[in-house]
Amino acid sequence: MRTIYLDNNATTAPHPTVIEAMRHVLEHVPGNPSSIHGPGQAARAVVDAARVDVAALLGARPTEIVFTSGGTEAINTALHACVQSAPTGSRRIIRSTVEHEAVIEAALHGADEVSVVGVDAEGRLDLAGLARELARPACCVSLMLSNNETGVLLPIQEAAALARAARVPLHVDAVQAVGKSVLNVEEIGCDYLSIAAHKFHGPKGVGALFVRRGAAFVPLLRGASHESARRAGTENTAALAGMAAAARVMGCGISERRAHLRQLTVRLEALLADIPGVRFQGAGAERMPGTTNVAFEGLEGAGVVLRLAREGIAISSGSACSASMGGGSHVLEAMGVPYSHLFGAIRVSLCKQNTADEIDLAAAAIARAVLALRELLPGV
Ligand SMILES: Cc1ncc(COP(=O)(O)O)c(C=O)c1O
Repeated sequence: MRTIYLDNNATTAPHPTVIEAMRHVLEHVPGNPSSIHGPGQAARAVVDAARVDVAALLGARPTEIVFTSGGTEAINTALHACVQSAPTGSRRIIRSTVEHEAVIEAALHGADEVSVVGVDAEGRLDLAGLARELARPACCVSLMLSNNETGVLLPIQEAAALARAARVPLHVDAVQAVGKSVLNVEEIGCDYLSIAAHKFHGPKGVGALFVRRGAAFVPLLRGASHESARRAGTENTAALAGMAAAARVMGCGISERRAHLRQLTVRLEALLADIPGVRFQGAGAERMPGTTNVAFEGLEGAGVVLRLAREGIAISSGSACSASMGGGSHVLEAMGVPYSHLFGAIRVSLCKQNTADEIDLAAAAIARAVLALRELLPGV
């Protein structure tokens, strides 16, 4: 059966050059980057080159990049650094209501106090609310660049200006933004920024944290002095080579990629718009191209997802992490999505490799699934 993969916000397939780069390191560069002999130095060269490529992708200096095991660790590291370096009394983290669980949980278990800034019905951040929260001492503002469930963009530059004026460091969760938007830490004006390779056609289990030169830093993982004593643990050289290859691919052709994603998103949403009881989440806000969050009145998103899975079409009913936990989405709840639609949401998330033909097949399958599920629920 043909597989149509439309769940790219959950993870992406590794790019062929990523697989090649990883295979090369696994086969030919077996050393430990901390060893001073030849094989060790060859491995060190892989790590150094990866740092240059990842820094270039973000408009950062190589010394400002700390490699991690992924987005979650990068986020935990940033929040930990902010909390641990702050004086008692100001160990407060400010986040939005629509952050990923990685930010929500890291803030909850790290800070003395967490303040939450809301969004409107389209998922747009309440900037005035952020300004109000910044009137009191805090050690960090943590905001995502684009939401993983809806694609809605947060006004990061405006938030950065507010945080800077209040002298509060800003951490940006850019995990969903790489390759879909030009990322430049100078233009964003953040102090910390997290990415995860598997969201941009790199391998899983590797990511990076940008730490602005001079920004406070306290390591989360303690041990030997890897990563200039910022993250202990022998480097995953093959994964770093893979992430670097993905960074090089993502650094090129952003506008073509965005245009392709936008075209397919518009096509998909036009095809779904006629389904009775349909509701698009965040459609009125500025969104990252390639993400559609759509709900069907009275249905459960999981039912639609399972029916599509039987036809070889992979989508999700929210974020992949929460999909297995059941229950509603905290993002949609924060946006005030009415109860009638709250559990009926599916997320279709695209990548450059998806085609118009795949979109047409998926839209038809979604329409069929909704119809079939409705027949089981008379009165809806
Ligand atoms: C917005 C966002 N932040 C953080 C993460 C966590 O990244 P990882 O699972 O690679 O650790 C994800 C993963 O879905 C995400 O979508």
